[in-house]
Amino acid sequence: MKKLLWLLPLVLAPWQAQAADLANGERINRTCALCHGIYGQGTPSRASPRLAGQNAEYLAKATKDFRDGKRQAPTMVVTSGLHELSDKDLVDVSAYLAQLDVPAYALIDVQQPGGDPAKGVKSYKECKNCHGTEGMGKPDKKVPRLTGQHANYLFQQMKLFQWRKRPHGIDPDDQALFDDLDDQGVFHLVAHVATLDDEQVKVAKSAEGRKAAVEERRAEAKARHEARRAEAMGTAPAKGSGLQITDIKQTVAQMEVKAGLKPDDVIQAMLSKAAGLNMKLVGQQYVSKELEERGEKAPYLTIVQFCDPKDAKTMVVHNPIYASYMPCRIAVVEDQQGKLWLMMLSLDMLINANLLPPEVVEIAIRVNQAMLDVMVAGATGEF
Ligand code: HEC
Ligand code: HEC
Repeated sequence: MKKLLWLLPLVLAPWQAQAADLANGERINRTCALCHGIYGQGTPSRASPRLAGQNAEYLAKATKDFRDGKRQAPTMVVTSGLHELSDKDLVDVSAYLAQLDVPAYALIDVQQPGGDPAKGVKSYKECKNCHGTEGMGKPDKKVPRLTGQHANYLFQQMKLFQWRKRPHGIDPDDQALFDDLDDQGVFHLVAHVATLDDEQVKVAKSAEGRKAAVEERRAEAKARHEARRAEAMGTAPAKGSGLQITDIKQTVAQMEVKAGLKPDDVIQAMLSKAAGLNMKLVGQQYVSKELEERGEKAPYLTIVQFCDPKDAKTMVVHNPIYASYMPCRIAVVEDQQGKLWLMMLSLDMLINANLLPPEVVEIAIRVNQAMLDVMVAGATGEF
């Protein structure tokens, strides 16, 4: 043992020897939160996986795989700046996400319609060795936790394993583990995995769990408010109250359009992407064109608008104030150098606001992700 121990510092990369920097991790996570949620809770729809409580070693590997192009999620890589993060940054954000607990009030009970957990238990026998009876994975072997993970995401990943689009497991044989399963078989497996978080959710829903959640939520809201205020004001706390507007850039997501793309290509790419995502186009305003028709010169400006009536309803029923975000819009705008930019209001603040019920946060995350997808399509011309 002694012999092995003195070898350790030699085999560890320099960044592994230091403890992870959780403050750096938290800072990076702000961009991840646009799609994964501020608690890393993910969303059941559109396959945005839960990251909170996932094993840190696995997360560091997974993020590296995306950054280095071994796994594909182009919108994520471009909008989160993942491609510019160092190995140390990835370790930091992974450590931060791994220690996050989804608060009881944001905990999503994983649901799987269409599968039979009793049938899934049988096939899960083959998975226990690595993922564990409780589905918590094995940190030392970089085996991910499956418990609490959204069913849609798990289903999609198992299809990727079957199609050989993503490597699975430790030995090459592990790739074939899913080959004998048809879609229904995969649903059964996922249905079983979906039961593994039930205890957690039950505790969260008990009277005691609820009380603790409310207290936790108050304390967190207070801490967050104070941190924001301190950040907005430099170090000194604000004197008096009144309207405070923090840096406008924090509420805006912006991307430069790839050089050479014409405004019409950008808009075409966005509309095609939006149609593919079933987003309803509710308006197009050709501001600069309109001015030019009146003989007035103006830098290019066009605004496209989208709205899903059902989502809008859910949000407004919760609080009419959210109508201020509607419809979702992306502006194509030319700067003084003649470069084209895409600008939209980020729903970041809604995702961060910890006084919202999970269903509203889920809509905010989902819509933000779809809007970012449309924006990336416009910025790159690819859809
Ligand atoms: C534009 C939305 C978006 C943003 C922003 C985003 N992600 Fe993702 N992320 C996704 C989607 C969608 C997937 C699922 C991809 C797939 O199908 O494999 C994913 C998958 C992941 C996974 C794989 C999880 C697993 O269990 O294997 C990790 C890890 C991850 N993201 C980390 C991050 C981190 C860290 C950031 C911030 C630096 C980030 N993501 C920002 C959308 C996003
Ligand atoms: C020999 C060990 C081993 C066995 C057995 C195994 N897995 Fe895995 N599994 C892994 C490893 C390692 C990964 C991570 C792959 C990577 O790094 O991308 C993984 C990844 C996964 C993922 C992706 C999770 C995520 O967060 O993206 C799913 C889903 C999964 N396994 C399901 C299963 C199921 C279901 C079974 C049983 C049929 C099973 N695995 C059996 C080792 C194993």
